[in-house]
Amino acid sequence: MSPDLQETRILNINILRFDPYDSKSVPHIQTFKIKEAYGMTLYIVLNEIREHHDNSLMFDFVCRAGICGSCSMLVNGRPTLACRTLTSKLPQEITLAPLPLFKLIKDLSIYSGEWMRGLNERLETWIHDKEEELNIDKLEQRMEPELADSIYELERCVECGCCVAGCGTIQMRPDFAGAVGLNKIARYHLDPRDKRSDEDYYELVGNEDGVFGCMTLLGCEDVCPKDLPLQSKIAYLRRMMIKTTMA
Ligand code: SF4
Ligand code: SF4
Ligand code: FES
Repeated sequence: MSPDLQETRILNINILRFDPYDSKSVPHIQTFKIKEAYGMTLYIVLNEIREHHDNSLMFDFVCRAGICGSCSMLVNGRPTLACRTLTSKLPQEITLAPLPLFKLIKDLSIYSGEWMRGLNERLETWIHDKEEELNIDKLEQRMEPELADSIYELERCVECGCCVAGCGTIQMRPDFAGAVGLNKIARYHLDPRDKRSDEDYYELVGNEDGVFGCMTLLGCEDVCPKDLPLQSKIAYLRRMMIKTTMA
């Protein structure tokens, strides 16, 4: 029987609590008992805890709709978005922890923006058109709808960091671009407005911190809440890099 149709459950929500800015704080698990409701998400659970049990609990959210990427966390050890996770899909015992690898702000709140900004600056994730000045009188460039669709498909990344937390290579190699970075490179490589050559892209990610560091274990694609085709894009970049070295 689906959990939705069973008797109302009392969920045990175990949360890793820690404030790295408080010298007296010690990491510990705090358990809250929450009555499950139909259609309940972890986002609703966390708000209920903050409103009715402990208003010092910290977690992030903006959109509540899987769009801003703010509410990523470990749910029973798996990186995912709290606002898109139904409690009915989870066992009664639910353990929440902040995503590893990012700077911890407090409890479930992390500072992923700093990591993502560093990555974007390092990979130069913007259109390089090689024109010295922006010409606002220039007509917009035409693009085939199929090409535009394939670019926007990759732009759906919400920088939630789930693929970073699920990647074994980043644990060993902190400068590894990860699936999020390689997906961005694939996006700009597809875009005809970006005039960077294959050699330019090779300079950016043709190394062990880029496509050649990836162990292809698919952890990133398994946990990406936007179902991005991360593996096919990494494979595509790897083929492109190998061709560049042979040219
Ligand atoms: S496939 Fe590559 S990028 Fe994805 S999780 Fe594994 S090592 Fe990381
Ligand atoms: S590629 Fe997927 S998992 Fe990684 S940051 Fe983007 S949306 Fe999140
Ligand atoms: S609150 Fe925006 S993705 Fe969850």
